[in-house]
Amino acid sequence: MVEEKKFENVLVSVEDEIALVTINRPKALNALNSATLKELKEIVEEIETRKDIKVVIVTGSGEKSFVAGADISEMVSATPVQGKVMAAYAHYVFTKLENIPQVVIAAVNGFALGGGCEFAMSADFRYASENAKFGQPEVNLGVIPGWGGTQRLPRLIGKGRAKELIYTADLINAEEAYRIGLVNKVVPLADLISTAKATAKKIISKGSYAVTLAKNCVNTGLDVDLASGSKYELEAFSLLFSTDDKKEGMGAFLEKRPAKLTDF
Ligand code: CAA
Repeated sequence: MVEEKKFENVLVSVEDEIALVTINRPKALNALNSATLKELKEIVEEIETRKDIKVVIVTGSGEKSFVAGADISEMVSATPVQGKVMAAYAHYVFTKLENIPQVVIAAVNGFALGGGCEFAMSADFRYASENAKFGQPEVNLGVIPGWGGTQRLPRLIGKGRAKELIYTADLINAEEAYRIGLVNKVVPLADLISTAKATAKKIISKGSYAVTLAKNCVNTGLDVDLASGSKYELEAFSLLFSTDDKKEGMGAFLEKRPAKLTDF
């Protein structure tokens, strides 16, 4: 069980079907090095199989940084092949996180820069603390966002805004991130985790088969054309007619009583 294991750079706790995954490298503002990515991979791969976890909240330790990016001290001497291997690893971990059956909320508690913004973007949605700062500053370092940023950022905030952020390397504050749709909510830092947990609890009270299939449909649909995405939705929707949750949810509505929806 990952919550019983001692990782070097990540803290994991599980309570009330919510896993709290905290990147914990405060001396480097929680920058992701290879060792941290490896730990994250193990954690995400286990969570994917855990029926006792319904929502995952990812955050950073301390009050200053979510994740300040890929670890620059590790990348500085990397060859093109080493850079590619590390980026491919990060792509794997973030894409895995993006597609696990559980809902993933990023609770962005400070700097979410470069690989940190890319990590946050692989969550289903993001809440930010008032002090959070977002950006893709890679062009300052002579590279480009390489852990999904050139792909996920335009999908989230549109092509023009994404290009401007990437080309200028500008950092934006939480309010601006909210305005452009990069985050769903901005709250005081002290309320960030409790706000994410309150949303998690609400999601957990719904039919988890339905929530997971809704996630699949949105993720799949954004990668294909509208007609193919709609076909996928049709299959998922009709599949849910086989579940007890559908009988219970609709029956309860008609009988004017609260529904008791089940787990996956
Ligand atoms: N990698 C390695 N170490 C980092 C780091 C990173 N991404 N970000 C911060 N740190 C380290 C600093 O080197 C510093 O270490 P020392 O105390 O040993 O000197 C420590 O964290 C604290 O940082 P600062 O002293 O710089 O703190 P600050 O408050 O003055 O500035 C900051 C904060 C604006 C976030 C600044 O640290 C910064 O600009 N960090 C780099 C951000 C960045 O460029 N991220 C993108 C990385 S590239 C990438 O992610 C590519 C990709 O697509 C995957």
